Amino acid sequence: MNQSVEFAFRSTSEADTERLAERLAAQFQPGTVIALDGDLGAGKTRFSQAVAKALGITEVVNSPTFTIIKEYEGADLPLYHMDVYRISMAEADELGLDDYFYGDGVSLVEWSSIITPILPPKYLHLFIQSDGEHERVMRLTAYGEPYVTWVNELKRMGV
Ligand SMILES: Nc1ncnc2c1ncn2[C@@H]1O[C@H](COP(=O)(O)OP(=O)(O)OP(=O)(O)O)[C@@H](O)[C@H]1O
Ligand SMILES: [Mg+2]
Repeated sequence: MNQSVEFAFRSTSEADTERLAERLAAQFQPGTVIALDGDLGAGKTRFSQAVAKALGITEVVNSPTFTIIKEYEGADLPLYHMDVYRISMAEADELGLDDYFYGDGVSLVEWSSIITPILPPKYLHLFIQSDGEHERVMRLTAYGEPYVTWVNELKRMGV
């Protein structure tokens, strides 16, 4: 069983959300999986855009709700941006997402809770909760290494 560690952070602006994304992106490596959840408009895509920027991606990053998966070429790592809002668990199972999860890049999965059974055993979960126009509560849960180390570092140093 994976060890899990949690950390909650209050973002009071998009700049705060960008800072969290930058802190995390600095640690990313091939096969990093970040699972994102939270209501419509919570900030899953906004966070993903900040990750893309931190990875040196200059293309515009939007919610891939209709395409489900979009690939971007970063400076060092490819980014696989997924949004599984419109598909079922069974459909997701047929997409072969493991090729992305265990691939050379970083996977960001919006609405990940729909496909929890097929997420890899180790990943970082970010749950974003709106709390006013600009305020967001960001709840990170790390399942396994290296995510546990990353989250412990955020707990120790702050965002
Ligand atoms: N502190 C904040 N952090 C992130 N986004 C914020 C913050 N404050 C305001 N916002 C705004 O919240 C909105 C978040 O929208 P976004 O498209 O990222 O949501 P989403 O979770 O991807 O929704 P969907 O499920 O529809 O894809 C953006 O308009 C962004 O400007
Ligand atoms: Mg989105």
